[in-house]
Amino acid sequence: MIANVWSLLKLLMFQGLFTSPPQDPGFDFFYLTLQWPGAYCDTKRSCCYPTTGKPTADFGIHGLWPNYNNGSYPSNCDPNNEFDPSEISDLVSTLQKKWPTLSCPSNEGYKFWEHEWEKHGTCSESVMDQHGYFEKTLALRDRINLLQILTDAGIEPNDEFYELKDIKNAIEEGFGFTPVIHCNRDPEKNRQLHEIFFCVDTSATEFINCPRPRDGCPSHIQFAKF
Ligand SMILES: *[C@@H]1O[C@H](CO)[C@@H](O)[C@H](O)[C@H]1NC(C)=O
Repeated sequence: MIANVWSLLKLLMFQGLFTSPPQDPGFDFFYLTLQWPGAYCDTKRSCCYPTTGKPTADFGIHGLWPNYNNGSYPSNCDPNNEFDPSEISDLVSTLQKKWPTLSCPSNEGYKFWEHEWEKHGTCSESVMDQHGYFEKTLALRDRINLLQILTDAGIEPNDEFYELKDIKNAIEEGFGFTPVIHCNRDPEKNRQLHEIFFCVDTSATEFINCPRPRDGCPSHIQFAKF
């Protein structure tokens, strides 16, 4: 009798007849991080093009990172949920174009995607599985025509220097949300535009304003050629 009542309850819950409270995803928001390949390669360490050849001169995906509002982030949340290349075989050709690796030695990209899934993706497994993680990240990236927005504002990857505030204003006007910008250093120690972070809600579908918009750049930065 008790067992029957219990299985009926489970059935009703499964059918959504009971509304369960929204599940805490275990983090507060995502960073969608895009990287400029010209800045990745223009360092002392340099870079290696993937086995598929030189990536197109466009912002590539670095990752989709669960974050806390306090500035820290969870990582490597589920060692039992290892990266499985067979789960994303339908996405590989798109990943190679939009999420290209630049690490050495030259490789196809699986190591990069494995690292991103295991370090960051496993911390969002309450929201999506491995296939969903890569698919949603690609879809988010497709909604920002970042290079076009910058180029339209006269900000081009030509080794010239630009004002950080002009870059941020152009993106805010062209896209609607203000990004967070990180810089690295070229071998001559010039600070250059390296990564652009956008904030996304915990369902990985809507862009939001970043809770802690803190840039890692001086006011005057280089936009490297690629
Ligand atoms: C930030 O928030 C998370 C989740 O609430 C917590 O686990 C972590 O300890 C906090 N970290 C810091 C540095 O306050």
